[in-house]
Amino acid sequence: MTAAREVDEPTRSDIPPVEVDGVSVRFGAITALSDVSFTVAPGTIHAVIGPNGAGKSTMFNVLSGVYQAAEGQVRFGDARLDRMRPYQIAGIGVARAFQNIALSGTQSVAENLMLGRHHLTKAGFIAAGLRLPRATREGKRHGERVAEIAEFLELGDKLQTPVGVLSYGDQKRVEVARALCTEPRLLLLDEPVAGMNAEETTRMAEAIREIRSALGISIVLVEHDMGMVMSLADRVTVLDFGRRIADGTPAEVQSDPEVIRAYLGSGDEINPSDAAAGHPSETPGTRP
Ligand SMILES: Nc1ncnc2c1ncn2[C@@H]1O[C@H](COP(=O)(O)OP(=O)(O)O)[C@@H](O)[C@H]1O
Ligand SMILES: [Mg+2]
Repeated sequence: MTAAREVDEPTRSDIPPVEVDGVSVRFGAITALSDVSFTVAPGTIHAVIGPNGAGKSTMFNVLSGVYQAAEGQVRFGDARLDRMRPYQIAGIGVARAFQNIALSGTQSVAENLMLGRHHLTKAGFIAAGLRLPRATREGKRHGERVAEIAEFLELGDKLQTPVGVLSYGDQKRVEVARALCTEPRLLLLDEPVAGMNAEETTRMAEAIREIRSALGISIVLVEHDMGMVMSLADRVTVLDFGRRIADGTPAEVQSDPEVIRAYLGSGDEINPSDAAAGHPSETPGTRP
C-alpha cells in the first residue's frame, strides 16, 4: 500500500526531472508554442507564466498528453510524455487539476476524492459492488487515505458535503485534493487561484507549498499572475507569444527587461503585491 509512503519523505528517489525540449505546437496557422525548453527539477515548484495567449494552457495540455507537439520532446525519466495518451500519462503518476473545476457537484467531497483512487483499486468494481472482504478492507484503506488528503487541504470537516454547495475556494481545493488522491509524482496545476479572493489565494498558495514539502513531489504551476508565483515557485519559465523569453529564479525573471516589457505590453500587472491583494482572475481577452 502506498498510503504512508509520501509522508515525511521530502526527497524521493522515484521522481525524475521533467525535460521539455524544443517543443512546438501549431493550430493551423497559429504557432501556440515555438521551440520551448525548460527543466523541472525533482521536488520543486516550477511556474510557467505569461500574459494572455502566451501558450501556458497549451503547454499544460502538452504535459498531460491532451495536445500533441509538432516538434520536440517531453521526457519524464524514461517516459516520453509527448508520445503518450492522457490515460497513460496519468498511469505513470502525473496528475492534473484543471483551471475550470471538473468535479461532480451533486456528489460529496469524499465521493469525488474516491474517484481519484479508482485506478489504485485492486479489488475492482465488481468485487467492491459485491462487498467481498478483500474489497471492503481495501475500501477502508482508501477511505483513510482520502480523509488524510482532505485533512491536508483543510477539507476534513467537509467530506460528506456535496461539492456543489461549497465555496469556490473550497471547490478548487477539492480539485487539487482529487488530483493528489491518485498519488502522483508530478502534479500539474492550471491557474489554481484564478477567480479566487485574497484569502482563498493565500490558502491555496500555502496548500501548494505544503504539498511540495510534505509529499516531496514535483509541481508544475501554470499561472497568469506573476505576483502569485513569486513567493511560491523555485523556478519560473516565462512565455510570450509562444516563445520562452526568460527562465530563472523568481527574482531573476521579475527583473528581466523582456519580461517586464511583455507584461506591460499586455496591460497585465507585474507588481508582486498584487497577489497579496488577490488579483482578480484572468479575463479572456485579446492582446495588442
Ligand atoms: N485548441 C486551439 N485551437 C486553436 N488555437 C488555439 C487552441 N488553443 C490555443 N490556441 C491559441 O494558441 C495561443 C496560446 O493559447 P493558450 O495556450 O490558451 O494561452 P494562455 O493559456 O497562455 O492564455 C493563442 O493564440 C490561442 O488562441
Ligand atoms: Mg490559459
